[in-house]
Amino acid sequence: MLVQEYFRSRQELLEKALDKYLPPVTEYPENLHAAMRYSVFNGGKRLRPILFFATYEMLLGKKNINRIKRVIPVACALEFVHTASLIHDDLPSIDNSVERRGKPSCHVKFGEATAILAGDALLTKAIEILTEINNKTKAIKCIQILNRAISSHGMIGGQTVDVLSSKKKININTLRYIHLKKTGALLQAATELACVMYGADENVLITLSNFALNLGLAYQIVDDILDEVGSYDVLGKEPGSDTKSNKATYPSLVGLEKSKKQAEKLLRDSYNMIKNMKNNDILVEFVDMIKERLP
Ligand code: IPE
Ligand code: IPE
Ligand code: MG
Ligand code: MG
Ligand code: MG
Repeated sequence: MLVQEYFRSRQELLEKALDKYLPPVTEYPENLHAAMRYSVFNGGKRLRPILFFATYEMLLGKKNINRIKRVIPVACALEFVHTASLIHDDLPSIDNSVERRGKPSCHVKFGEATAILAGDALLTKAIEILTEINNKTKAIKCIQILNRAISSHGMIGGQTVDVLSSKKKININTLRYIHLKKTGALLQAATELACVMYGADENVLITLSNFALNLGLAYQIVDDILDEVGSYDVLGKEPGSDTKSNKATYPSLVGLEKSKKQAEKLLRDSYNMIKNMKNNDILVEFVDMIKERLP
């Protein structure tokens, strides 16, 4: 199967399920449901759910769209958490970004209060969906993994230190912490959740967890680089916002060239972690896709 066909078919499956899980805009409170839907359906790449599917199908040993139907709730939960993180990330008190994916950010379109609450509602929706997993032992394990990835020891911790670090001089270890947590933690959860749903051995889980964490760090470094030298089309917003708000980023700390070298090295390391796994083609494609984003 061609990689493009893999991404297209899994995306299509996911879009339908996301739609099914979200309350209709006609349901009270309409404004909140409209804001949730607006942010979920505005052109995201769906990287985290597809990384989850790809990991699960790699473990299965074959690509089989019928076999992934039972794990769709987990894929949707990941995308809801990601969307919530972006809604909150754009808020005036966090990044103050007025655009997301080439459209007005959620708070610009719906107001700040509704945006905060839409993010909250998507986070709780993610956990609610995971309770639907038939195998309750797996359901609880999935909730633990996703919650930890969101928590003050995960994405929220990373976002907090990110906010506290702007306009400050921080060291590279703090910056690594920010990136590993704010972006790496959710990608890490995507592969760990696939391992739990499949029932993978712990050594496999550790490898795939490290792979995704590393990939997440690389992804955020590339995002930092693009914010400095990327185009509106790739970013979906005006470049230069990190510099304008004095954000702690890789380019601001070590320069553009060293940031690129670092991202390339992390991507090589990521590849090396999975190169000997069978049926790893889509995971290898993730590494390549991130490399191709580098300007
Ligand atoms: C954006 O993530 C936030 C970062 C972690 C850099 P994505 O680049 O996955 O965003 P969408 O969902 O495709 O818009
Ligand atoms: C976003 O990092 C990380 C999370 C939302 C958790 P950025 O703030 O760099 O993402 P963009 O550039 O706004 O997409
Ligand atoms: Mg941010
Ligand atoms: Mg931002
Ligand atoms: Mg950014």
